[in-house]
Amino acid sequence: MRTRVAVIGSGPSGLLLGQLLTRAGIDNVVLDRASKDYILGRVRAGVLEEGTVRLMDEAHSGARMHAEGLPHDGFSLAFDGRDHRIDLVGLTGGKRVMIYGQTELTHDLMDHREKAGALSIYEAANVTPCDLEGHAPYVTYEKDGVTHRIDCDFVAGCDGFHGVSRKSVPDKAIRTFEKVYPFGWLGILADVPPVSHELIYANHPRGFALCSMRSTSRSRYYIQCSLDEHIDEWTDQRFWDELRRRLPAHHAERMVTGPSFEKSIAPLRSFVAEPMRFNRLFLVGDAAHIVPPTGAKGLNLAASDVHYLFEALLEHYQDRSNAGLDAYSAKALARIWKAVRFSWWMTTMMHRFPDTSDFDQKIQEAELDYLTHSRAAATALAENYVGLPF
Ligand code: FAD
Ligand code: DHB
Repeated sequence: MRTRVAVIGSGPSGLLLGQLLTRAGIDNVVLDRASKDYILGRVRAGVLEEGTVRLMDEAHSGARMHAEGLPHDGFSLAFDGRDHRIDLVGLTGGKRVMIYGQTELTHDLMDHREKAGALSIYEAANVTPCDLEGHAPYVTYEKDGVTHRIDCDFVAGCDGFHGVSRKSVPDKAIRTFEKVYPFGWLGILADVPPVSHELIYANHPRGFALCSMRSTSRSRYYIQCSLDEHIDEWTDQRFWDELRRRLPAHHAERMVTGPSFEKSIAPLRSFVAEPMRFNRLFLVGDAAHIVPPTGAKGLNLAASDVHYLFEALLEHYQDRSNAGLDAYSAKALARIWKAVRFSWWMTTMMHRFPDTSDFDQKIQEAELDYLTHSRAAATALAENYVGLPF
């Protein structure tokens, strides 16, 4: 089989890139080692920046997102028993974010891909990008015991942090930067109305907590936990009790609880691989970078990478220019490092670190006080939270 762009990974970045390429008439094949149902069963991000919303529209896949997503004009920073609202719209000249689950976004992109008749191959084992340094790269994979080969012009590595794409780059051609945080997030989903109509990011002596949502009747809540916690030891009751303790009393008293139907622990890490291009292979999204979830940036960064790569591929095929492809890595990384900085900063400001000194604690309190009393400081937070321009 031959295609122009072989896309490894059917997560948000692979599907969004595939959809934009298909609409532009650029033939592509999406390969994933997992099944469609498995991918749709993963619960991850929930906050979309306006740039991500725009890209979904550009991919003609945004209708359900606009109908069912919840535009949010602000959020609350809670500490010392009080809420401090960050007025995103007021501080950014009218920008807001959209609450719409990654699962739903993935679902919509898969549906539109199917309707467009573009090829996705699920449960593809041993996907291997080959001959990336030559002019005729190809990807091999196994399915039902048979080895297949897809010849292509380019490979888009959209296969997440644990994928094969980044690992295919020789060690000497890639540099990585990493910071691992000494805690994780324990998250649940429950069909109960959210405790507040806006998100609450809480800093509390017992640890960070986040009250988010997927709809007006479905809540997504997280609490900071230590890395050696076992999920089976967290009954729903224990989770609700701990979440309540970390919120200002007026929220804790109003919180509606109920059985959770998803519960998982995620470690927190910052990671960047540079450059994001190795000859005919381009790394996109989590394959190249990971951020701790505190700033809600992971999925949105994947989307901005897709934007840069799509524009570059369009230029290659329509104008016969490689300028965009040559600039892809540097352009994407300039935006990525700012989001890495922001996510690290939000994480540092909102969590309790196991080895915090009295000095560090005082600095954290001063940071929160400054943020909630200075319009300039709040504006910097809001500008980053709604997403820096592409
Ligand atoms: P992925 O979504 O990881 O998709 C990669 C795809 O590649 C997968 O479908 C996988 O099956 C496939 N794949 C992997 N290896 C191979 C292979 N060898 N061959 C073929 N296919 C392969 N971000 C937020 O903003 N907020 C959050 O709350 C949040 N929570 C998260 C929780 C967890 C547990 C994780 C892992 C991430 C979370 N993120 C969150 C980050 C966000 O979900 C990611 O940034 C986003 O999914 C990136 O999309 P992607 O398409 O680049 O990668
Ligand atoms: C969600 C996750 C985040 O990391 C965040 O900062 C906000 C919301 C969520 O899953 O809803």
